Amino acid sequence: MQQPKRYLITSALPYANGYKHIGHLAGAYLPADTYVRYLRAQQRDVVFVCGSDEHGTAIPIQAAKENTTPRAIIDKYHEICKKNFEDLGISFDIYHRTSEPLHHETSQEFFTYLNDRNEFQVFESEQYYDEEARTFLADRYIKGTCPNCGFNQAYGDQCEKCGKTLSPDELINPVSTLSGMTPVKRPTKHWYLPLDKHEGFLRKWILEEHGNDWKANVVGQCKSWIDGGLLPRAVTRDLDWGIKVPLTDAEGKVLYVWFDAPIGYISATKQWAINAGKDWKPYWYDKDTSLVHFIGKDNIVFHSIIFPVMLNLHGNILPSFVAGNEFMNLEGDKMSTSRNWKIDMQDYIDDFVNKDNGGEQTVDMLRYYLTQIAPESKDSEFTWKGFQDAVNNELVSVFANFVNRTMVLMHKLTSGKVPKLHEDVMDDKDRNMLAGFMKTKEVVEDCIEHFRFREGLFEVIELSRKGNRYMQEKEPWILARNLETNPENQKIIDNCLHVCLQLSANLAIFINPWLPSTSKKMLHMFKVVEKILFWENAGKQKLLSPGYSLREPSLLFRKVEDDEIKYQVEKLKSNAKPSTAVAEVPVEEIKPEMKAEIVYDDFAKISLFTGKILSATKVKKADKLLQLEVDLGFEKRTILSGIAEHFEPDSIIGQQVVVVANLAPRKMKGIESNGMILMAEDSAGKLYFVQPAQEIAAGAKVS
Ligand code: 2FM
Ligand code: ZN
Repeated sequence: MQQPKRYLITSALPYANGYKHIGHLAGAYLPADTYVRYLRAQQRDVVFVCGSDEHGTAIPIQAAKENTTPRAIIDKYHEICKKNFEDLGISFDIYHRTSEPLHHETSQEFFTYLNDRNEFQVFESEQYYDEEARTFLADRYIKGTCPNCGFNQAYGDQCEKCGKTLSPDELINPVSTLSGMTPVKRPTKHWYLPLDKHEGFLRKWILEEHGNDWKANVVGQCKSWIDGGLLPRAVTRDLDWGIKVPLTDAEGKVLYVWFDAPIGYISATKQWAINAGKDWKPYWYDKDTSLVHFIGKDNIVFHSIIFPVMLNLHGNILPSFVAGNEFMNLEGDKMSTSRNWKIDMQDYIDDFVNKDNGGEQTVDMLRYYLTQIAPESKDSEFTWKGFQDAVNNELVSVFANFVNRTMVLMHKLTSGKVPKLHEDVMDDKDRNMLAGFMKTKEVVEDCIEHFRFREGLFEVIELSRKGNRYMQEKEPWILARNLETNPENQKIIDNCLHVCLQLSANLAIFINPWLPSTSKKMLHMFKVVEKILFWENAGKQKLLSPGYSLREPSLLFRKVEDDEIKYQVEKLKSNAKPSTAVAEVPVEEIKPEMKAEIVYDDFAKISLFTGKILSATKVKKADKLLQLEVDLGFEKRTILSGIAEHFEPDSIIGQQVVVVANLAPRKMKGIESNGMILMAEDSAGKLYFVQPAQEIAAGAKVS
């Protein structure tokens, strides 16, 4: 495939309504930054945009909580988030704001363009109105009893206890959160984007054109949405906070936040272009631009379905990739702002980066661990112990240790200078190590170009691990002991350190997209300029010239101590707010039912294989059933599973599963099920997927 001429990379615009946590960082910002740093090292034309999402009900709701104005809220949190990202090395070319006049104009023009071409439908419908507060009520301003679980504090758009997506009409006994009164229904007119009219375009573009090159979780979620039936979606709201609908008959109405927010990527690009004296248009109109959105799991549909429909109607390019990640859990539970079960970027900056023993090395420590556990294809988990292990056992003991040993030995055994390579005493080990640089370059390149950042970083650490092994095998410090009797040994020592130094220089280039300040620190030790980081230098065997003297080494990373981890875990637990969920009912200790004994041959009749859920949809008129499409590696199967009351269909796409593959087909509700998914059930009746501890290809035999 031809390489794009330019890249426009976006990270989801976070709501400027509060502190953002490291789950956000890991989902939409860190991988984007890694990708962009790599593209810059490739000297490609790339612009990286982000900014604050400053509309929607999230803002006035937070203002009410903090007893201030929406304007004060966005001004406060815009600055905080912007600074947090800077402190953690996220290198946006611009961090814009949707409250800027340029963005209001851009969004209104966009709306007008579509409206003038009759791309909207206008409907009147009955919506909840608060007669005391004299306003229509957005979903979040209505509370009531959840029809699904009976929780009496559910919001009009979602029940925070059972997680079910709701509409205000479904709430039992709805109450306005503004006045506490029961709202009444009043007719109101809104503009709708008829997604149903664009089903053909979406099927072709997502499922046919990108079905194989986009991530399974993204394609699967889109497929479920499309198969579930697309409906017209309102793009206006009755609210007084937001961008005014640019029509005379739309008094008191604003654009829906999810209509204007993604247009924020365009206005951010415009502002970047004004600042840089560039033209913004090619980034949004030229087909040879690669537009890539980095987002978290809950934004997938907006970026893969709704915004592309808008872009298509507006004559813009479409995203070439939507890098939608899954969720990152924390210490055994979902990260949650309402329950304060989270680590804010600000917390990490205060407790590590701004501490005496902190600084940039702690930024890269976090970047390392978050990449190592990135939820690229399934939910992952942050634990403080995991953080400590990753830093101490990999960054310190493998990567930094290799670089440090190389530098120390060079000062001791080759007078602080890069030794030359003596071809006459080179052996296979030397040659293999040198040849390995280029191999790693190719693999890392492939990983990053295909958005597999975790694997790419693993390859870099592996190369430093190989370096340690090589040095251990060569043992230059032993050879140095009897130089007087064996002066020829100096050549072998020189070769070993020459190889290790060239490898260290390569490591500085390879690690740069992930750990930029570590890379800079290495360049400082090597006394080389930043230009060496251009990707064209990666894999080269002669980056540091023989005879060149290098600086004294300084440690790249410090260890994470047990008491730091203990402090963090205690802090997390003591700051957590109790869950709104009903307390768990204690269950009596009972012995599980044990079936009659079987012999091995009975078990051996079952064919078990690993699989991956590609899509999930509810089965009509069957409360318990989900229809799953499962990839078994060698074929795809439709399987009906009785788990609909336990999982939202979207949340399980991409999950690894174990499938009983030779179960006789069975028809339910007119659909044939071809297999069974293995599940585990705890004593409280909660279901869990039985799955391999690590990601493994679909179709692996389980026995
Ligand atoms: O979920 C969120 O935090 C939204 N503010 C993301 C918006 S992304 C884009 F559309 F701007
Ligand atoms: Zn509920």
